[in-house]
Amino acid sequence: MRKKIMNVVGARPNFMKIAPLMREFGKRSSVDALLVHTGQHYDANMSETFLKGLGIPEPDFQVSIGSASHAVQTARIMIAFEEVCEEHKPDIVVVVGDVNSTIACALVAVKLGIPVAHVEAGLRSFDRTMPEEINRVLTDQVSEFLFVTEPSGLENLRREGVEEAKIRLVGNTMIDSLVHMFPIVNQSRIVEKLGLAGEPYVVITIHRPSNVDSEGDLTRILDIVERVQGRVHAVWPVHPRTRARLRRFGLESRANSMANLVTTDPLDYVSFMKLVCGASAVITDSGGIQEETTYLRIPCITMRKNTERPVTVSVGTNLLAGNDVALILDSMDRILAGEWKDGRVPELWDGKTAVRIAEILENE
Ligand code: UD1
Repeated sequence: MRKKIMNVVGARPNFMKIAPLMREFGKRSSVDALLVHTGQHYDANMSETFLKGLGIPEPDFQVSIGSASHAVQTARIMIAFEEVCEEHKPDIVVVVGDVNSTIACALVAVKLGIPVAHVEAGLRSFDRTMPEEINRVLTDQVSEFLFVTEPSGLENLRREGVEEAKIRLVGNTMIDSLVHMFPIVNQSRIVEKLGLAGEPYVVITIHRPSNVDSEGDLTRILDIVERVQGRVHAVWPVHPRTRARLRRFGLESRANSMANLVTTDPLDYVSFMKLVCGASAVITDSGGIQEETTYLRIPCITMRKNTERPVTVSVGTNLLAGNDVALILDSMDRILAGEWKDGRVPELWDGKTAVRIAEILENE
């Protein structure tokens, strides 16, 4: 009998983590891989474009739960996913990352007695005001297979008492996607399209609730962006959450009128990675981008006080700067003067993580 592995995606950062796994499972005749999309992200440029761009097959099951409060969103995903599981009876459920879809589906599966595999297990920011931290801790507690991207994940899981036999350091499937997509990324003309060819520029992305949900915090971010674009060209693809808050606080025209800043809608994967590849630096509060820049050895300034991905700081090119304007500007000056650490690529971030995971799940 073929092993039925049900893979879950919901939000933008999930797609690049699942794509290499779907590809690997697809090569194995003993595995029947199914894909469920919860619809947590639903705008074409947050979802469909990514699925297509990364060569992910059409989801076998598409739920459309959309945006809502955390409780409502999580509950809706659980109700819909339970029905899918009861009807199709997967042998394993694979969840990735730390979004609400991750914990919702993990919880449903474990209660139905279906083993859960968590890809990107063990990461901890130790900041429980972050919704993602709650999702990470709880998903790991109910998972049977914990696939870890970096050494800190091993330590965290051991400290939390997770059985050693469940934990595997396998590397990073998001980096698999990057390695696989390089030839296509290279062909993108986005830098020319944005009029930045031959110019040094930085890429900015901001969407964490702690940076954008209050008027004070978002104003401070705009102050920083204004100062940065005073020194170097800047491109800012604006996340829907951030766009909504800029509108609500009457800050949109300020964001759109800075002389050296281009704001865009969220970009597709290929365009975005091409922009990052050519950037002098990235300023971000994302989780995944800290890892992608480390792999690409591009300087990264993270506008957060903590990171659940400490290897990007200790080994990679990342710096945690919070919203300290002086530190960010000083870092920009050092980057533009060529005085930044080169970093190294963390262990097992080699483009073959999905092979390792598929092998384990196939033979378990
Ligand atoms: C979610 C994840 C976060 C991840 C981010 C990447 C959780 C708790 N958070 O945050 O970890 O880094 O995705 O993008 O799961 N919206 C749209 N269209 C969309 C999606 C969202 O307009 O396709 C708007 C809605 O106004 C919504 C808001 O963005 O209320 C926030 O969306 P939501 O999915 O709740 O969380 P994100 O902030 O995107």
